[in-house]
Amino acid sequence: MKYNFDKIIDRSEQHAAKYDERFKKFGRDDIIPLWIADMDFETAQPIIDAVKKRANQGIYGYTSRPSSYYESICQWQRRHHNWEIDPNQISFAPGIVPALSELVHEFTEPGDAVLIQTPVYPEFYDVIEAWKDRKVIENQLIEENGSYTMDFSDLEEKLKRKPKLFLFCSPHNPVGRVWKKEELERMTGLCIRHEVPIVSDEIHSDLLLWGSEHIPTATISKEVAGQTISCISSTKSFNLAGLQAASIIFPNKEWKNRFDSFWGGLDIHRNNCFSLVAIEAACRHGDEWLQQLLVYVEENMLFVREFLHTEIPEIKVSLPEATYLLWLDCRELMDYKNLWSFMIHEAKIGLNNGADFCRSLDGYLRMNVACPRVVLKRALEQLREAVQQLHMR
Ligand SMILES: Cc1ncc(COP(=O)(O)O)c(C=O)c1O
Repeated sequence: MKYNFDKIIDRSEQHAAKYDERFKKFGRDDIIPLWIADMDFETAQPIIDAVKKRANQGIYGYTSRPSSYYESICQWQRRHHNWEIDPNQISFAPGIVPALSELVHEFTEPGDAVLIQTPVYPEFYDVIEAWKDRKVIENQLIEENGSYTMDFSDLEEKLKRKPKLFLFCSPHNPVGRVWKKEELERMTGLCIRHEVPIVSDEIHSDLLLWGSEHIPTATISKEVAGQTISCISSTKSFNLAGLQAASIIFPNKEWKNRFDSFWGGLDIHRNNCFSLVAIEAACRHGDEWLQQLLVYVEENMLFVREFLHTEIPEIKVSLPEATYLLWLDCRELMDYKNLWSFMIHEAKIGLNNGADFCRSLDGYLRMNVACPRVVLKRALEQLREAVQQLHMR
């Protein structure tokens, strides 16, 4: 079937965080929200049908996880990423961020450090600093003409400080890199040499653009698989974040049992009944929708790039290889101290502040383009007008 991503959907009755939390985040609620990473698109029809069917059953009691659920996830990974997962390696978590937080809690002690590659999804800082006396070690990515690579010599220096874990983002939010095999081999080689376990957050691994190919970290080699905990979920690719479910893949029973016993202690071990059917429907029947979504996202990205290039060339943007997020370099536009306030109060658009992704980096913003193109057009026109006013001052 042909999906219509141009359709404007009123999300006001959904209590969508992207809209309802604007005042909390930006201090006003009349801005166009292009921030938190969810989409203003309806999900795939087979998922809607599966959830409706489940809703129509009218009883939403304690629900066990059928074996078909993990099987469908394994099949998706095999089909899309050539990755063989044994369902017995998988643990449930109510989200990747809660899982990352628990992994830091369980696998580190007060005084320990955890390595991250910045700029990165801000919750990577949060899940480390949430726990008493855990420290962040940053390995900053290298930027050259808007394209990012790993700084391997700095990475090795940081690994020598013996962080207890490395939280790795693949594909990378916000810079949109899909790491190449050689990069993954070099990075994992260093982690093996310094005996640092890798937690590989692969939530964006299905949002692949321009024919990019994602390589799961755990498939690099047997040795790497033995030292990697992988985090995957269909919630990002299919706009299901409100259903709260993720799969964490462990290389051994001991680590898996440690993780599971934490959630067992909170009595969190079952999916909610709607996530069960939604994720299975996504994995079994979601390909067609995802393919069409990615074409629309690519077109949105080209549209934004063209608009900025011709109308606001002070803002530089490079096309990412994955995600529906653009990383905007606004350093030529204005002093970074005024940038955030300018976007909110003059352009009236709600973006993510680059400084949240790397504390020593200023002048960047992240834009979510997963919305109908007319909304993006309106946002960019507001931005152009605000920039014109700025130049007239
Ligand atoms: C890298 C990354 N990890 C995790 C998440 C959120 O995961 P969850 O909603 O499953 O907690 C996001 C959301 O944008 C993300 O970008």
